[in-house]
Amino acid sequence: MPPTRVIIDTDPGIDDALALILAFASPELSVEAITTVAGNVPVAQAARNARMVLDVMGRSPGPPVAVGARGPLKKKLRPAQDYHGEDGLGELSRFKTGEGIPRYPEPQQLPEPQPAPALIAEIIGSAPGEIVLICLGPLTNLAMAIQAAPTQMAQVKEIIVMGGAIQAPGNVTPGAEFNLYTDPDAAKLVFTSGLPITLIPLDVTQRVMLTAELIDAVVRHIDSRVTQFVRDTTERLFGVEQRRTGYAAIPLHDPLAVGVAIDRSLVSSRPLHVEVETGDGPAQGMTIADRRPLKEEWKKPPNLQVCMEVDAGRFMALFLERICRPTA
Ligand code: RIB
Ligand code: CA
Repeated sequence: MPPTRVIIDTDPGIDDALALILAFASPELSVEAITTVAGNVPVAQAARNARMVLDVMGRSPGPPVAVGARGPLKKKLRPAQDYHGEDGLGELSRFKTGEGIPRYPEPQQLPEPQPAPALIAEIIGSAPGEIVLICLGPLTNLAMAIQAAPTQMAQVKEIIVMGGAIQAPGNVTPGAEFNLYTDPDAAKLVFTSGLPITLIPLDVTQRVMLTAELIDAVVRHIDSRVTQFVRDTTERLFGVEQRRTGYAAIPLHDPLAVGVAIDRSLVSSRPLHVEVETGDGPAQGMTIADRRPLKEEWKKPPNLQVCMEVDAGRFMALFLERICRPTA
């Protein structure tokens, strides 16, 4: 089988960085471009972080890295640097080599001049039915691409979105997941676009957890730049999660979205009609998937494939095996 051609739209972000590593370590995927969006961190930092992950993997020049939306369509950006660290990657500047130089030097390659939404539409329009777009951050770039280039965007093979919470609690408010909370207006536009969308909500991503024990038992024994990076970028977050939840475990939200592009059999999905709350109140960003047995005339046609089950053990085995592979 030829590799699946993908674009990854991302707001790195520690789990985004792990997702990028998984994508590049997997021969099932060919990453055509990385597009960045404001979310966990401001968009310039997201682009710098994506480039840093490419440098760690020795993928330079690698695929184009484009800079996208500086903020949500309407809401105010509230980055998540308390969770991901000021740099968005777990405060990597702390790490030095034996000679005292930064273990992770500033990336030298500049981002693409073309804005992310235009690059997304150009690549998808140039290869009808071939490109899978994997969205790991707020959907601002995707919404802008649909608004600016609907004909090209209609050529997309599939859009895989990490976001939402169907019956699981939210992670940024009791009801809402971070990506959709950050830009609910973009999510609403995307979810009503009629494009083929697969949703990877917290209901499944919170069942695939990278633990400090797994780092100790598996990752620590493999000596590579990538495994060193995985240990360094997660070290601070294990402490954050330990204090927050009492358990040193990081949900692999974004890596699971990439995992679904690698092997669809890792999850089971069902067609649902899902709406997004765009108001400013306590329900902002909530995904409403009415699954009550409604009267026929009240039922609305499904607009998403929603993944509600995951083979967590098989995904974790895939994730660990791939990140421990020797870099190309
Ligand atoms: O809610 C989890 C999602 O929000 C992940 O994509 C994480 O990186 C943040 O962007
Ligand atoms: Ca993300």
